[in-house]
Amino acid sequence: MKRKTVFAFGRIRDSVKYRLKFAHFPYLAKALLRERAHTSEGLTILDVGCGPGNIAAFCGIPAGSKWFGVDLWENQLRQAADKGVYQNLFQVNLLDGLPFRDRSFDMVICNEVLMYLPNSQEVLGEFHRVLRPEGKVFVYNPISWFPEILAGLKNLVRKVHQEKDSIALDSQTGWKNSRRPCRINYYSFRSLIDEVSSARFQITEVTAFRLIRNRVRLLTRLENYRWYYRMTSYLARRFPFLACDIMVAGCKKEAAPAPARAIRQRAAA
Ligand SMILES: C[S@@+](CC[C@H](N)C(=O)[O-])C[C@H]1O[C@@H](n2cnc3c(N)ncnc32)[C@H](O)[C@@H]1O
Repeated sequence: MKRKTVFAFGRIRDSVKYRLKFAHFPYLAKALLRERAHTSEGLTILDVGCGPGNIAAFCGIPAGSKWFGVDLWENQLRQAADKGVYQNLFQVNLLDGLPFRDRSFDMVICNEVLMYLPNSQEVLGEFHRVLRPEGKVFVYNPISWFPEILAGLKNLVRKVHQEKDSIALDSQTGWKNSRRPCRINYYSFRSLIDEVSSARFQITEVTAFRLIRNRVRLLTRLENYRWYYRMTSYLARRFPFLACDIMVAGCKKEAAPAPARAIRQRAAA
């Protein structure tokens, strides 16, 4: 008899597969509902570099809320539109900032985008500008122990083998003919937190979900086992500096932000 696949999250929706890779989706969905509970009206949420709109599709629309999405490429925006969740989608090159008025949003979500942006610090400044006071930012990005070594290796590979269909926005301008962005920023646990906090956000939570970027099929299958999923998430939450990616949550305070070292790390679930 064929063995039934049990997904780590116990439920399947058609927009994404539920694996440790997506363990931060339910985290975000809960954060949205928490924020929604604090407002009388709905939330205005900006999904920066929304891609095909997987996060919005997973989270759904909290009562009375509106999702807005921006991305560089039309094909991504088309896929996002098909999800039927966004109120509005805009084609935006983040190198040019965000085309929104100050204090327009309650939440900004930036999932695996910061690493592609040579002007990441300015873009974080834009998040701060478009958020309302007490608005929340959620930045999810890969981290590594030795970001400088990884960045050096990547630059070397780029010099030897110039990828034709990808762009490094710092060195090329023909982005309309390209299909995917090129990774530019490599962060450590500390440098990612510092970058978000130096954009005047008060860091409220740093959460990790997995320890390794699982590219081996056999290991991916392990994620079908609840014990593996639980063990990995427990270890990642307990030791987030060992994780391969983290979610940094921040809050826009009008007063001066707390220093980065005052970060409250999320306790084990
Ligand atoms: C790894 S994908 C993440 C997509 C999405 N956030 C998700 O969770 O599925 C990175 C996204 O960033 C977008 N992106 C990269 N550079 C960008 C730029 N300069 N301006 C706007 N979007 C950009 C890409 O088009 C791509 O959709």
